[in-house]
Amino acid sequence: MPRAHRRTALLAASVVAVPLLLAGPATAAPPEREDRGPEADELLVIGHRGASGYRPEHTLAAYELAARMGADYIEPDVVSTADGVLVARHENEISGTTDVAERPEFADRRTTKVIDGVELTGWFTEDFTLAELRTLRAVERLPGIREENTLYDGLYEVPTLDEVLELREELSRELRRDIGVYIETKHPTYFDGIDLSLEEPLVEDLDEAGLDRRSSPVFVQSFETANLLELDEVVDVPLVQLMSNTGAPADLVAAGDPRTYADLATAEGLAEIGEYADGVGPDKNLVIPREDDGTLGEPTSFVADAHAADLLVHPYTFRNENEFLPADLRDPGEEPSDYGQAIDEQLAYWEAGVDGLFTDNPDTGVVSRELFED
Ligand code: G3P
Ligand code: CA
Repeated sequence: MPRAHRRTALLAASVVAVPLLLAGPATAAPPEREDRGPEADELLVIGHRGASGYRPEHTLAAYELAARMGADYIEPDVVSTADGVLVARHENEISGTTDVAERPEFADRRTTKVIDGVELTGWFTEDFTLAELRTLRAVERLPGIREENTLYDGLYEVPTLDEVLELREELSRELRRDIGVYIETKHPTYFDGIDLSLEEPLVEDLDEAGLDRRSSPVFVQSFETANLLELDEVVDVPLVQLMSNTGAPADLVAAGDPRTYADLATAEGLAEIGEYADGVGPDKNLVIPREDDGTLGEPTSFVADAHAADLLVHPYTFRNENEFLPADLRDPGEEPSDYGQAIDEQLAYWEAGVDGLFTDNPDTGVVSRELFED
């Protein structure tokens, strides 16, 4: 569809009722595997928020390092500024990942809001213009676990999505391989409600970067459902439905729809998702849950059910530190910040049949994939 028509269609889609997910029996044929993105038949290592195990997350430095470590895709989460520019942050409240709390000139911007039903106090991207946000600097989210990353506190700006796409292009040229972008829209219903819809600028940015084709090295992902249904009507790039292992999509909650992520994760739910999405990004516990004692359990039917619906499976999030590992893969007696048997955890997931994984440590992901493929 021509770009102008796409924008018109998307805007129109945002003001009409979107058919509810799982509203009826699956009728449309799921997309053929070969019709998806260029990496569809390869096992993917996705640099989660960049190489966020080694640099403050969602900075150009984190994305660049992820690509240089061998990540196939880099993963920007996006939110909006007051002037409608998409920037890379995991959430719109930015006190945990920038130095905003130390800036006296922005002290009066501190406020309390309810985002997706959760009351938060802090500073929010939608209350800053891009120019104002540019004066801030990124800091490490997990200084207790990743003390070494604090070395880089204060060095990097909050990047725009445009800049991430430019970096992707430069690195693809230099490294002589396509570096993909795996873009997540954060809180889309909330941003719709404050007239800062994320989807229009996202489509525009992808179009301008020439990343609007079915074969473009792009995935667009969301924990919500309605925005993916909208995007399915107006973009060709592959879409991924994210799933938590608790709660429900914020758009369904806002609409009074009782369905939860647990409903979406059933074979029936996955078959319905296969009508509009090309993959699913489940919490890794949906693929292999932990036992009551915290050790890694046995795989569920999730991967088989998703593959039956022609959906790729890219679980999140794999991290090297003991803090985040199953109890039986932690190194006893060592610190939560020390590395445990992260490769063994990832091998269990490759063996369970996943098609890729989100990891804060892309170099470890590359190693585990090599071991699995050998
Ligand atoms: O998008 C996959 C994974 O990143 C989802 O979790 O909270 O890190 O965005 P989150
Ligand atoms: Ca994400």
